[in-house]
Amino acid sequence: MMGFVGLKLLFIGVVFLLCLSSCYSQFNPADKYSIDCGSPSNTTIGNRVFLSDSLASSFLSTPQNVLVDTSANSIPSSEYSPLYKTARIFTQTSTYTFRITQSGRHWIRLYFFPFSASNYNLTTAVFSVSTPDHSLLSDFKAEGVQTKEYSVNVTSGDLEITFTPTGSSFAFLNGLEVVSVPDPLIPDDAMSVNPPTNFKGMLNKALETLARVNMGGPVVTSRNDSLWRSWVTDLSYSKNRNFESNASNPTAVRYPAAGATQDDAPISVYGTAATMASESDPKANFNVTWEFPVDRGFQYLVRLHFCDIVSTSANTLYFNVYIDDSNVLPDYDLSTKFGGNLAMASYSDFVTQSLNKNQIRISIGPSTIKDVYPNAILNGVEIMKLSNSDGSLSGGNIPSSNSSSKKNIGLIIGVVVGVLVALLAANTPMEQPLVLAQTSITGVHSQQFKKPPTILTKAG
Ligand SMILES: *[C@@H]1O[C@H](CO)[C@@H](O)[C@H](O)[C@H]1NC(C)=O
Ligand SMILES: *[C@@H]1O[C@H](CO)[C@@H](O)[C@H](O)[C@H]1NC(C)=O
Ligand SMILES: *[C@@H]1O[C@H](CO)[C@@H](O)[C@H](O)[C@H]1NC(C)=O
Ligand SMILES: *[C@@H]1O[C@H](CO)[C@@H](O)[C@H](O)[C@H]1NC(C)=O
Ligand SMILES: *[C@@H]1O[C@H](CO)[C@@H](O)[C@H](O)[C@H]1NC(C)=O
Ligand SMILES: *[C@@H]1O[C@H](CO)[C@@H](O)[C@H](O)[C@H]1NC(C)=O
Ligand SMILES: *[C@@H]1O[C@H](CO)[C@@H](O)[C@H](O)[C@H]1NC(C)=O
Repeated sequence: MMGFVGLKLLFIGVVFLLCLSSCYSQFNPADKYSIDCGSPSNTTIGNRVFLSDSLASSFLSTPQNVLVDTSANSIPSSEYSPLYKTARIFTQTSTYTFRITQSGRHWIRLYFFPFSASNYNLTTAVFSVSTPDHSLLSDFKAEGVQTKEYSVNVTSGDLEITFTPTGSSFAFLNGLEVVSVPDPLIPDDAMSVNPPTNFKGMLNKALETLARVNMGGPVVTSRNDSLWRSWVTDLSYSKNRNFESNASNPTAVRYPAAGATQDDAPISVYGTAATMASESDPKANFNVTWEFPVDRGFQYLVRLHFCDIVSTSANTLYFNVYIDDSNVLPDYDLSTKFGGNLAMASYSDFVTQSLNKNQIRISIGPSTIKDVYPNAILNGVEIMKLSNSDGSLSGGNIPSSNSSSKKNIGLIIGVVVGVLVALLAANTPMEQPLVLAQTSITGVHSQQFKKPPTILTKAG
């Protein structure tokens, strides 16, 4: 039989184990590159150092160095404000190349703030951003402060990110980050919403984070997230603010073995929740609803984070969760999932397709199970766009007739080039046109990439 001392040791052991997982989980990604584009000096944000532009120049091949900055005090305040004071301009196609030491998913974060410098008005810039396998942004125009976050699986040794100005425009960038994603964070499968079948194949998709929300709670900055993510409030997504209450009980949160980890979402997210404002009405029967703008024509991963920080005993909170019109978690009871324990952190993944709508609607509402007080809870929401069959994350809203006409143009160019090559090949020995083409490309590169002139421009 275990005596008092044994129990005490067990207790100390459990506390020690809990501490190991929560107190000391310092994120140490295998690959991490942080750059403050255009900046003359390093910029520290939390425990990250964003390298000055010159220290990062070895990652970049570009025909021209144009660095701009602004003294404008119109930069919206956020934890990343220091990055937005400077930018790098790409007058022509330019590529960052990062050595990847550990293959797997990597976040790419692009920080944009379009200010106006004397020769370059960044709000007018139109450009595309891509990796060799994925189109991330096409004909993009930045509006206000925007952080774009993608995650791509890098299996070769290098990750290339290319900026291509559209037409006679230019591209720009205020900050750039490439960081390893822990493998368990994005599994291969999820529940498909309609029809409710098992979705498989996430590992082969590139993802774009469209929303990362701390429901019913404050902004959570990268300092409070073990993987340097930021979470916004649900205010701008809320459809019926008056139906919603905030709950907060961070000290209750526990990370069970069969549930979520600190890396899935921090205590700051699981410890706050949006609930039904049903406190004064035992007959309350309404949904609390949020709407998230998306591009139609893509599939989306919807991750819903739950932690019952409001109940005082098991089997007292039953609720429904809807994605668009589908009840994806009917009569959901979190305590049953965890053997009667409360405040256990967990999440559920769904894949939904937005065929003809520009939004995904998420609602929580009371279940029809009798004799329980009407309430519902949601602690966090993440919405990620999945790359389509072309590997693209950009565009959306593209009707099939339009995309096929694009393909036709591509086909015509392809045929014309093919015919030219065939004609050249017919008149010359086989290898000659190939060699000619190669030297001319290399020539352009070495000429353009040698000693790029630096232009520094200040805002007026
Ligand atoms: C900038 O940060 C890098 C990486 O932490 C460091 O090696 C370098 O010395 C820093 N430069 C300055 C001027 O602080
Ligand atoms: C920059 O361009 C935007 C959009 O075209 C325009 O509204 C703004 O006035 C321009 N700013 C300056 C300083 O020219
Ligand atoms: C990355 O891709 C490889 C090859 O398709 C696959 O084996 C691996 O599981 C993927 N890794 C992640 C983290 O998605
Ligand atoms: C809920 O929390 C958010 C974020 O902290 C806050 O903006 C909002 O006013 C709160 N709502 C209520 C009803 O207290
Ligand atoms: C972030 O963490 C600090 C302690 O490290 C805590 O005081 C603060 O309340 C946390 N912020 C949020 C939004 O949870
Ligand atoms: C909640 O939303 C779902 C899905 O749109 C709907 O079917 C249900 O009737 C709504 N419930 C209430 C009480 O409005
Ligand atoms: C192409 O797409 C645009 C909107 O993106 C639409 O207005 C137009 O009608 C489409 N053209 C064809 C031929 O379908």
